[in-house]
Amino acid sequence: ASRALMPTPPMGFNNWARFECDLNQTLFTETANAMVSKGLLAAGYDRVNIDDCWPLHERAANGSLQWDPVKFPDGLIWLGQYLKERNLKFGIYSDAGTSTCGGYPGSLGYEDIDSATFASWGIDYLKLDGCYVDAQTGLTTEQTYQKIYSYWHSVLSNMEQPLIFSESAPAYFCGESNLTDWYSVMDWVPSYGELARHSDDIAVFDQSDPWGSIMDNYGFEILLARYQSPGYFNDPDFLIVDHANLTLDEKKSHFALWCSFSAPLIISAYIPDLTDNEIAYLTNQDLLSIDQDALGLQATLVSQDATFDVLTKTLSNGDRLLTVLNKGSSTATLTIPAVRMGYPAVSTANFYGQDLWTGTQFLAVDSVNANNVPPHGTAVFRISSSQPITPTGQIFNTAS
Ligand code: GLA
Repeated sequence: ASRALMPTPPMGFNNWARFECDLNQTLFTETANAMVSKGLLAAGYDRVNIDDCWPLHERAANGSLQWDPVKFPDGLIWLGQYLKERNLKFGIYSDAGTSTCGGYPGSLGYEDIDSATFASWGIDYLKLDGCYVDAQTGLTTEQTYQKIYSYWHSVLSNMEQPLIFSESAPAYFCGESNLTDWYSVMDWVPSYGELARHSDDIAVFDQSDPWGSIMDNYGFEILLARYQSPGYFNDPDFLIVDHANLTLDEKKSHFALWCSFSAPLIISAYIPDLTDNEIAYLTNQDLLSIDQDALGLQATLVSQDATFDVLTKTLSNGDRLLTVLNKGSSTATLTIPAVRMGYPAVSTANFYGQDLWTGTQFLAVDSVNANNVPPHGTAVFRISSSQPITPTGQIFNTAS
């Protein structure tokens, strides 16, 4: 991946987990308007991505994909212009194989024509799914994925305006008891694209256990920290902000964990109806600056027991992030010693901290207390060993 193309993880909207194939032009124009009016664009959410089920089932006579004119009566060129006028960027979905997961035409054999079509529609971001990829003669399935994604990489990076490339290949090798194939796919994925889905789909709107799916993808993300660096980001899938079966604390945890990972922040929800509480956490500047930190590091696990996971990472100004997830079903408190955060075990050491939910600053001696973390809640702190924390006050939107 080219660091210049996407130095920090993307932020925006995708319709899939909330609406699946129930998509149309009005959904996207309403979403765009709400992203502006609710302050999401100003906070850095500047992408609107269309997922599967947007095209007709047949290609045009010249081989190009065509949008469904019933779903998109004014067309995708018009929609791209509508987004551009609002300073939003436009992303699309296709598939590496013969068909998309939803049964629409796949891009196998049409890589050149499809990338040119997308660019001509004002699109700068492609999510390339991996359904219906059959092993080619003489190649293993994994080698076949590598061949196709590698070809896409060369096509996309040779374009006048290279498209951001979101790869789904690793997700097709995840979850096997032996993780060897998954890791060998991860060995090539970061050099071809800017982000990659590595695990199962996060729960769609009517799925009953969204917290379970968040925890599954969180667990897989933890295993991949070493693959991430500025310009390439592991993608644990969408932020399911308005899922009916999540508590507000669970939604805030989901967000805080994804920010701790410097993960893509792609909201899949009906944005016009998001509540003030939901908008407030999604636009928390102190957490967004953790997600968009210039080092692009993923927080890693430093301790784990039946109740708590503790994660940390270094931030670009030398501070450290401390993230404390309460997996249990009751409110709980944990004291985290300085050595657990990577600081030397000096008994007199003082630490300045800031609670990133409340903004409250504190002085800690030898340890930090995560007090009264609610069930499935996450406490997040910025820790500095030397000086009081400077509130960030701004986020690092990479939009040009
Ligand atoms: C796969 C992907 C999802 C979504 C659907 C569309 O399941 O993982 O994110 O794109 O396909 O059919």
